[in-house]
Amino acid sequence: MAQTLLITGASTGIGEATARAAAKAGWNVALLARSKDKLDKLADEIGDGALAIECDVTDREQVASAVSQTVEKFGGLDGVFANAGKGVSNPGVEDGDPDEWHDMIHLNILAVLYTAHATLPELKKTKGHFIVTGSKAGREHFKGSIYSATKWFVHGFAGNLAEEMREWQGRCTVISPGMVDTPFFDEAKPTKLQPQDVADAVVFALEQRDTSCIREIHLMPND
Ligand SMILES: NC(=O)c1ccc[n+]([C@@H]2O[C@H](COP(=O)([O-])OP(=O)(O)OC[C@H]3O[C@@H](n4cnc5c(N)ncnc54)[C@H](OP(=O)(O)O)[C@@H]3O)[C@@H](O)[C@H]2O)c1
Repeated sequence: MAQTLLITGASTGIGEATARAAAKAGWNVALLARSKDKLDKLADEIGDGALAIECDVTDREQVASAVSQTVEKFGGLDGVFANAGKGVSNPGVEDGDPDEWHDMIHLNILAVLYTAHATLPELKKTKGHFIVTGSKAGREHFKGSIYSATKWFVHGFAGNLAEEMREWQGRCTVISPGMVDTPFFDEAKPTKLQPQDVADAVVFALEQRDTSCIREIHLMPND
């Protein structure tokens, strides 16, 4: 039976490309984001192995419901890609906007925790895999960047979760890209990493033998 991967932030960019790559590798995919129209289009393209679920991952009840719908449709959960995230339009601390920080921290930190909390009981049943999108910005210092600090949280959390999941042979991986050409940016970045590059790294991590847990994949543009 095909394995099932739940992806947050599946409507565009890295999440969308990962849905295509995982489906191509034989996974069922549950696609979560707020833009139902985009998810429906992607699910239509992928076919029977895709389920589009409108879900704001900052809402714990919506996350729990999405997990239930996924398990009901596909019979279980083998992998999770907690990928939804965003930046801010006002960079820096002194010139930053605390309301914007609040929303970003809710999405980049708390929603990752909600996703882990809601999916771990299912992943435990399958000795499954939790993958989360970190960043180059979660390994290096960037002047005044609160976004970067949220990704430092993600990297720290991923290592800690890996130790917790290891107790039942589950795995956790942080995917850590440099700049990727996605709608995260207003203008195209054709020489930077492409969403497909990151998607391939996610599928690579998912497809390792049971004896190996890839804890981090750090990939950089080659320009
Ligand atoms: N692009 C880069 O250079 C880069 C580099 C390193 C790491 N990253 C990280 O990669 C991840 C994906 O970003 P991307 O570059 O692919 O950008 P993107 O195209 O803007 O994708 C962001 C995704 O998150 C979803 N999302 C936003 N708020 C949400 C919410 N409240 N609930 C559910 N889904 C939500 C968006 O869908 P809806 O708007 O439809 O909800 C969209 O699918 C993020 O964590 C980002 O920080 C990006």
